[in-house]
Amino acid sequence: MNSFSRGVLFAISSLVIPAGAVQAQSVPVIPAPMKAEASTGAFRIGKSVVIRHDRASASEAQLLGGLLKTRLGVTPKMTSGNGSLKANSISLKVDATLALKDGGYRMTIGPDGILITGKDTAGVFYAMQSLIQLAPPAGDARWAMPDGAAVSSVRIDDEPTFGWRGIQLDVGRWFLPVEDIKKLLDWMAFHKLNVFHWHLTEDQGWRFESKKYPKLTEIGAWRASSPPYGNRNASDGKKHGGFYTQQQCRDVVAFAAKRHITVVPEIEIPGHSSAAIASYPYLGNDDIPGFAPTVMNQWGVQSNVLAPKEETFKYIEDVLDEVCKVFPSKFIHIGGDEAPKTQWKKSPFAQGVMKREGLKDEEELQSYIIKRVEGMLTKRGRRLIGWDEIREGGLSPNATVQAWRGEQGGIDTAREGKDVVMSPTSHMYFDYYQADPKSELAKGPEFECIGGFLPLEQVYSYYPLPTVLNAQEQKKILGLEGQIWGEYVKSYEKAMYLGFPRAAAMAETGWSPKSRKNYADFTERLAKVNEHYKAAGLKVGPLK
Ligand code: ACM
Repeated sequence: MNSFSRGVLFAISSLVIPAGAVQAQSVPVIPAPMKAEASTGAFRIGKSVVIRHDRASASEAQLLGGLLKTRLGVTPKMTSGNGSLKANSISLKVDATLALKDGGYRMTIGPDGILITGKDTAGVFYAMQSLIQLAPPAGDARWAMPDGAAVSSVRIDDEPTFGWRGIQLDVGRWFLPVEDIKKLLDWMAFHKLNVFHWHLTEDQGWRFESKKYPKLTEIGAWRASSPPYGNRNASDGKKHGGFYTQQQCRDVVAFAAKRHITVVPEIEIPGHSSAAIASYPYLGNDDIPGFAPTVMNQWGVQSNVLAPKEETFKYIEDVLDEVCKVFPSKFIHIGGDEAPKTQWKKSPFAQGVMKREGLKDEEELQSYIIKRVEGMLTKRGRRLIGWDEIREGGLSPNATVQAWRGEQGGIDTAREGKDVVMSPTSHMYFDYYQADPKSELAKGPEFECIGGFLPLEQVYSYYPLPTVLNAQEQKKILGLEGQIWGEYVKSYEKAMYLGFPRAAAMAETGWSPKSRKNYADFTERLAKVNEHYKAAGLKVGPLK
């Protein structure tokens, strides 16, 4: 079909298919592929299937082998191949000349075999995720049939829309072990998400091992008590904590990289720093009356903020140096949100710094700190990203802003020609209730959420390009990111219940062309994708 006739067909189908109706062609993949043309017949993946791969796709072939082993009970044979269609084979190859964006792929499934061509290795990987979603779920009886499980014939051309398709997980409030992080990464990969924003430090716990500042984890990783589910003002009286060694962080980075996910670590500066200041009190505003920092055992915004001392800047630089050595990501998140100015107002030392530097208010003092931190990252070839409060008092020169208090901080930043990630609370805060709070809480106190109400359809409805921006400004929007804040997330199970399927809805916005977005069609596909969640024992949130 030439592009003209395809254009006509699209025009006709958009006339005859009422808005919101299910498109007949839709294949049960989330995020929806850019283009999928189903045809007759099927390929059967059985125990004798062969994975053929070019040199570039060796790691992807290994991962596909692992996924198929879970389903078939045996690891398929692997062999080198040039990416041509071969009987009883799944062939993988990279072709950088493919006329698709980075991360794009073409996959042809037919009775004679499966051919996957990625624009790059990420493209090969994303094709595999589509293939796994099209195949029966793990544990399905069809995998045990003599000639294996059938996957219907289809040709898919696919590519991502946005480059930043992220999930933030807050392990500062409740520590989750590495095995849980890896399981989450696998489910992110399943929906072609590619940024894992790891919120590693909080008032209630510091989770990153520093060799230079060991008290950060000896003291800062532990708190005496926590609010139990069901009563946020009470105390459970139980010690809680944990941290990741640098080796474990490197392991997570490598695991994520194989899945084409970048790990962006977050080290909160200057607020949300009670655990750091409790570990090393000299980092705080120790010249104010009643200064007595502890690792916090209640939620909420805390007043402890780092003091603008040269010793503190030395500490920040040392810690970021360790962070940069462990995390290769271009972006390092430095927090910057919710830093109350009360301590700086009271601190003669902080006031003296403001006078010395000619800073007119405490917002400018925060901006002064962030600018110095940006210098530390720039020196190491990295880029600073922070929450939208880093705009207050003046945005540092090359900062990227993550907008969370609505979109305005992102809009203003894009207008200044700087990069933006969109995470407005109204659509991207997955720690909000996804169903009526009364019905959720009726299921048990462990269903408690921080508040708010963010049903699946509202997540799905979000589009991160504000129409008030012109085309040039819209290019500054890197993408979007869902937030799994941790106060009410004590377990992997809760993280997944809150995170999915809302992450799937967000993934479709992040990946699929806007023209492919259709909520009714999404929920139809989700019902099928849910079979994969169920097969893995995952209990996700409401499917509509
Ligand atoms: C935030 O929710 N404080 C970024």
